Amino acid sequence: MERILVIGCSGQIGSELTLELRRIYGNENVFATDIKQAATDIVESGPFDILDVLDYSNLVHFVVRNKITQVYNLAAVLSGNAEKIPQKAWEINMKALMNTLELARETDAKKLFWPSSIAVFGPTTPRYNTPQLTVMEPNTVYGISKLAGERWGEYYHKRYGVDYRSLRYPGLISYKTEAGGGTTDYAVEIYYEAIRNGSYECFLSENTALPMMFMSDAIKATIDLMEAAPENLSLRSSYNVGGMSFTPKEVAAAIRKHMPSFEITYKPDFRQAIADSWPASIDDSVARKDWGLNDQHKLDSMTELMLNEIRLKLA
Ligand code: NAD
Ligand code: SER
Repeated sequence: MERILVIGCSGQIGSELTLELRRIYGNENVFATDIKQAATDIVESGPFDILDVLDYSNLVHFVVRNKITQVYNLAAVLSGNAEKIPQKAWEINMKALMNTLELARETDAKKLFWPSSIAVFGPTTPRYNTPQLTVMEPNTVYGISKLAGERWGEYYHKRYGVDYRSLRYPGLISYKTEAGGGTTDYAVEIYYEAIRNGSYECFLSENTALPMMFMSDAIKATIDLMEAAPENLSLRSSYNVGGMSFTPKEVAAAIRKHMPSFEITYKPDFRQAIADSWPASIDDSVARKDWGLNDQHKLDSMTELMLNEIRLKLA
């Protein structure tokens, strides 16, 4: 019987991943934790505790006491926020990862999911259909921490047998919990502002293409990777996952199919330089071949869902 710890259950991914894990493995077997309070559905459907991943001794006690076998570590400072506090973001992102790698080495929580990001690539990387193996010279503190993290994950796997697994998520789009300070957040905010105000001022320029994925596809990919037979995994760094690729102008056009009067204006800020250093689209053929990545949503189907769900949520 798997007993799973989710670290960062109150965030954009954790708030949905926790519920899906509980559906699959049983409510009582999925321990949700964060440094901030979780949503009511998480608190009411199974165990929830305040736990700081940076506090190694408490983390070990929690894991041993609850006989945890798998950890999903989602705690991080995202790209936009990290640029405001670079040294602190490096410290938090690396310590959060290293504590769970050490935890996996020292306890029975041997299986670890830790997300990487398209931010591991940089301005010298081929921008279109970015390959799995290519030039990687990230120039953001977030990207540097993700690339270093991938190398450490692979190292702990090879050196200590830790069952570390990882995806390079693109921008994730969801309606349940708003995004947490990244460069791809515009693609969530735009739907909220469309419903709230009928307009949106975008912090990226109109033709900035980035890879994106709908949250249900990302969660399925995450759990599929964690359930894949180890012998099928040719990579222990992190798998490219591409989803779809679009620009702010294209999202606005997709929204206008449902809300013809929707207006968008553009006022690029410091996040434009981050977006310009990232891939526009991703080659995820290795993930498709190794463990059957199979995402479903494209821009139009996702837009319809986002608008309907946010309308209901804000009603
Ligand atoms: P988020 O900011 O929405 O959530 C992170 C959660 O971690 C928050 O609830 C926060 O309170 C919690 N947390 C922060 N510090 C903590 C600590 N010391 N101990 C315990 N919990 C702590 O982020 P997210 O969007 O859910 O992203 C989760 C992970 O996925 C991160 O590693 C992020 O880099 C990665 N990722 C996300 C995206 C995306 O588009 N959302 C894309 C690529 C990679
Ligand atoms: N969505 C994330 C960010 O923008 C990508 O890792 O930071």
